[in-house]
Amino acid sequence: MQEKIQRIKAPQLVNRVVTAEEAATWIEDGMTLGLSGFTRAGDAKAVPTALVNRAEAGERFKVNVYTGASLGSNIDKMFAEAGIVNKRLPFQAEPVMRNKINTGEHFFVDQHLSHTSELLRAGAIDSIDYAILEAIMVTEDGLLIPSTSIGNSQAFAEFADNIIIEINTAQPVELEGIHDLYSPNQQGDREPIPLTQPNQRIGTMGIPLDMDKVKGIVFTHQLDSPSTIVAPDEETQMIAGHLLDFLREEVKAGRLSESLMPLQSGIGSVANAVLHGMIDSEFHDLVVYSEVLQDAVFDLIDAGKVNFASACSLTLSEDKMKQVFGEFEKYRDKLILRPQEISNHPEIIRRLGLIAINTALEFDIYGNVNSTHVSGTRMMNGIGGSGDFARNSRLGIFVTKSIAKGGDISSIVPYVSHVDHTEHDVDVVVTEQGYADLRGLAPRERVPLIIENCAHPMYREQLWEYYNEALERGGQTPHVLEKAFSWHISFKEHGTMKMPLKAQI
Ligand code: COA
Repeated sequence: MQEKIQRIKAPQLVNRVVTAEEAATWIEDGMTLGLSGFTRAGDAKAVPTALVNRAEAGERFKVNVYTGASLGSNIDKMFAEAGIVNKRLPFQAEPVMRNKINTGEHFFVDQHLSHTSELLRAGAIDSIDYAILEAIMVTEDGLLIPSTSIGNSQAFAEFADNIIIEINTAQPVELEGIHDLYSPNQQGDREPIPLTQPNQRIGTMGIPLDMDKVKGIVFTHQLDSPSTIVAPDEETQMIAGHLLDFLREEVKAGRLSESLMPLQSGIGSVANAVLHGMIDSEFHDLVVYSEVLQDAVFDLIDAGKVNFASACSLTLSEDKMKQVFGEFEKYRDKLILRPQEISNHPEIIRRLGLIAINTALEFDIYGNVNSTHVSGTRMMNGIGGSGDFARNSRLGIFVTKSIAKGGDISSIVPYVSHVDHTEHDVDVVVTEQGYADLRGLAPRERVPLIIENCAHPMYREQLWEYYNEALERGGQTPHVLEKAFSWHISFKEHGTMKMPLKAQI
């Protein structure tokens, strides 16, 4: 216990240690919780679990759950199964919770990840009753040092009425020093955010705590859930290859150097594979300014390709976690973790000129992208940071495989069934077939490029048939509106988007 208490260096907090069970009893029906955690990293683990245990023992209550992004440690799964969620925001990626959202059993607000703290600051969403934040320690001068993610923890600490701290002794203390906390003022009373280089520190090493708000401190000892990324396959490697070809053309044209511009890469297997593709490329002295650092970034650091990486969370596979935390000194001066409103801030993304690579579920012949809704209605994960980055980056790139479900779904459709990123925010689309550079092209110029370079050959004729019929009707962006969703309807009714030509319903 003495060793644990040493993690609480602020003397006035030492006597606030409680059990997770006791802390969980403070939470009442109708409250709003702000939980640390971003893409399975740095989530509060013990108090949320104790809260689920209350529900399993028969208590009936519901809470609103705000986080940084998705949670690990099965928290979202247990919350969903226990039926204790009224509203969840701004992101999740958990199958049981996804089902509950899609059956309407609880509400989900799918939010740009840089927006949550602004909405709290403006008082525009329910305020937080309890922030429950994972930390590795609290310093003498009252700074909470987060663990493997920062996410929204700073905003939750700032705007919550009460704070519960979970000090996780399984998280490496070596993380102290990699965080950089900065909180902008109210809008209307704000200076430019003084960050002009990805490796710049602009704030404090931890989250400044209002000691009076700290109601309890709980000790835990549990590693983060490892990431679930699958290794690159043939198709994701081909996507990476095409993306590298596009970047090479940019270098040839003198628009980029071989060090490119700061890279952002989204979540998921495809985005991870794309970064992996950089390892054996000629690109060098790369810098990452992203929201999640997955395994590939550390492989790139090891390969001497990436000099510096800034993000708001570290989400690693089990083996990578062991390796990175086992030799953290090697990485310490190459990493900064920031709050998600800074990692995803439009002002900074535009200033730094990011190359943003995110994944689409589907895109259409004009370049609109759907990243969230399967067949236009069923939530997958959420928009996450993809909108923050795509809209404001120098190059907004979307990648996807050209077909899904063994070819019964074409990821290139006449009209996306849900729009997350409009044609105005999308610069380049890439599949395993090739890439289409849409910059400066009118809608009618984009169509041939998208069909011929990106669509799977088995769907090209069908796309041409749709477009040719649309052309007969004219317009800046020609469509046959009554057939625009015929591909999705065909999949629902016949299990495939493949239709006999001249028979699009
Ligand atoms: N229609 C229906 N399902 C589709 C589809 C489509 N057009 N395209 C892909 N899918 C399915 C796949 O078949 C797969 O299903 P499975 O889990 O049953 O096997 C699933 O979607 C995931 O596809 P996969 O190709 O493995 O991609 P991924 O792991 O890279 O994830 C997203 C892709 C879009 C779901 C994911 O990147 C995401 O949630 N993005 C939005 C948030 C975001 O971009 N954040 C970035 C900032 S960090």
